[in-house]
Amino acid sequence: MNERFGNKIAIITGAAGGIGKAVALRLGQEGATVALFDFNQILLQQTLTEFEQQHIKAKGYQVDISNEEQVENSVSQVKKEFGRIDILINSAGIVGPTSTKITEYATVEFDKLYEVNLKGSFLITKYVLQEMKQLGMGRLLLISSVSGKEGNPGMVGYSASKAGVIGLVKGVAKEFADTKITVNGLAPAVIKTPMNDNTSKEQLDYMTAKIPMKRLGTVEEVAAMCCFIVSDENSFSTGFIYDISGGRATY
Ligand SMILES: NC(=O)c1ccc[n+]([C@@H]2O[C@H](COP(=O)([O-])OP(=O)(O)OC[C@H]3O[C@@H](n4cnc5c(N)ncnc54)[C@H](O)[C@@H]3O)[C@@H](O)[C@H]2O)c1
Repeated sequence: MNERFGNKIAIITGAAGGIGKAVALRLGQEGATVALFDFNQILLQQTLTEFEQQHIKAKGYQVDISNEEQVENSVSQVKKEFGRIDILINSAGIVGPTSTKITEYATVEFDKLYEVNLKGSFLITKYVLQEMKQLGMGRLLLISSVSGKEGNPGMVGYSASKAGVIGLVKGVAKEFADTKITVNGLAPAVIKTPMNDNTSKEQLDYMTAKIPMKRLGTVEEVAAMCCFIVSDENSFSTGFIYDISGGRATY
């Protein structure tokens, strides 16, 4: 592997598992120092041990992305320890109820989706940008979902929170467009990760049937695209929602 991210300091949230872990691994393999944010301490420790065996420069931070104090403190700790923050990839997220019409959808579940997926995206973006704006350069990537563009029936909380992430990306990107900081999003269709382990077969079949390639994406495919999006060479693109959907997305 070359050193595309040599000397870069990257925060990856939701980095203990799934997409976040795969992205952190690829960034680390290409030279980045990775700050892994996740609220699952056990999984985080396992991931750090794996990364250590692969000689990845990594440090773990137990953070609940929906908790403002924890996000603020952890971001400033990364800045103190490593001197700067070059890259953020926000991958922490939850799926919530599936196969559940809005009439049966518990409001408390909707609140949870908002807290983690949308407010969490807002908080990590806010505090990373407070540090990054001093440098005047950097790359932010927030993971949304194709369901935020198209809406998945039976997953109203998830779809609405991910649509909110798209609005966040587009608004914030324009606030920083006259700097060397870019803010983009990614809208994957179904990717094979632990997030789908408890999704009902009916819901999963519905989502897979909508993908013209007729298969799930892999975390390695997502990691490859994320790494391009946050690379230095991707310099004339901001406020855009990239697609990785096997042909599902039509706009
Ligand atoms: N897997 C898919 O099919 C798919 C499709 C589209 C979008 N996405 C999005 O991609 C992102 C990653 O999903 P994934 O499939 O890797 O999920 P995953 O469940 O495999 O991993 C998510 C990680 O985030 C962590 N996390 C959850 N809530 C957190 C919180 N409040 N604070 C800190 N960490 C938290 C979990 O501990 C876990 O390690 C999510 O935002 C998800 O919505 C996934």
